Amino acid sequence: MTFKTLEWHDNALHLLDQRALPSRVAMIPCRTVTEVAEAIRNLTVRGAPAIGVAAAYGMVLAVNDPALGGALDRAAELFKSTRPTAINLAWAIDRMMRVANTSTPLERRVLRSMLEREAITIHEEDAAMCRKIGEHGAALLRDGMTILTHCNAGALATAGIGTALGVIYTARDQGKTLRVFADETRPVLQGARLTMWELMQEGIDATLITDNTAASLFGAGKIDAVIVGADRIARNGDVANKIGTYNLAVLAAHHNVPFYVAAPQSTFDPNIATGAEIPIEERSGSEVTTIGATRIAPDNCQVYSPAFDVTPNELITAIISDTRILPGGRFTKA
Ligand code: MRU
Repeated sequence: MTFKTLEWHDNALHLLDQRALPSRVAMIPCRTVTEVAEAIRNLTVRGAPAIGVAAAYGMVLAVNDPALGGALDRAAELFKSTRPTAINLAWAIDRMMRVANTSTPLERRVLRSMLEREAITIHEEDAAMCRKIGEHGAALLRDGMTILTHCNAGALATAGIGTALGVIYTARDQGKTLRVFADETRPVLQGARLTMWELMQEGIDATLITDNTAASLFGAGKIDAVIVGADRIARNGDVANKIGTYNLAVLAAHHNVPFYVAAPQSTFDPNIATGAEIPIEERSGSEVTTIGATRIAPDNCQVYSPAFDVTPNELITAIISDTRILPGGRFTKA
């Protein structure tokens, strides 16, 4: 990768500012819990695995944050409240709290270094899980295929090569030539701004489409597979991912095109039975009524803007994880 989504050095978390892409490539340092929490909330860093890693480093900063007076549980609650759908965030925070609670009382310096070690481990594990997902998923792709993806489930969304896009990079590294269509992904345009930038950095043959264009491409037989990421996977295999994912799964089933979800173990939530229990984050209406500084809807108009939807497992061909490929509930005719 030609860029780093997040880096930890000099007692600060350095985040690639994803709000500025693709116009500007800039790293932003975060030195306090408030700064990390705000960066997660305002999408400076986004993507389920990446926000988990960022929050883990935020817990390291919490140890010496004067605003908290060492109250790690308050920092944990704050981080968990920033983005409720992606379970990776709560998963990383719970791991950090388990380390903090192992033996008490800990000298602050010792506690900080134990938490720093754990955050670095979470970071490195995420990169390793992406590599494994890439290896497993690449086996499903044939030379010459055209893939449709939604939102950004690439290196920008993780601490490694990405999940859905990691599969594409690994297949490319194996010598397969692939073509990718990227949905623009309204309203925040992660597909247009981030996925297109990332795929072009990597030299992948990528074409941007509006979200509304997908159906006509399926109808014309131009999509061979869909690969998306996930923010949370329930025990029955239902998947929460960026709003609009469910549309694609319905389209893929109708056109008998395989629909794959790529996600690490940290995205699986063993505590919920079905997707109906997944909390869906609602974002500010201003993300829909404005594009950049330009208003595109009447003042005071009502807006409903869920950030994610839930795709039932029966529409999923397979979930590509770092440990194995789990068959989904959908049967794809050969
Ligand atoms: O709102 P975002 O940009 O954080 O949403 C991201 C997604 O929906 C991704 O597909 C998901 O987090 C998986 S990233 C590997």
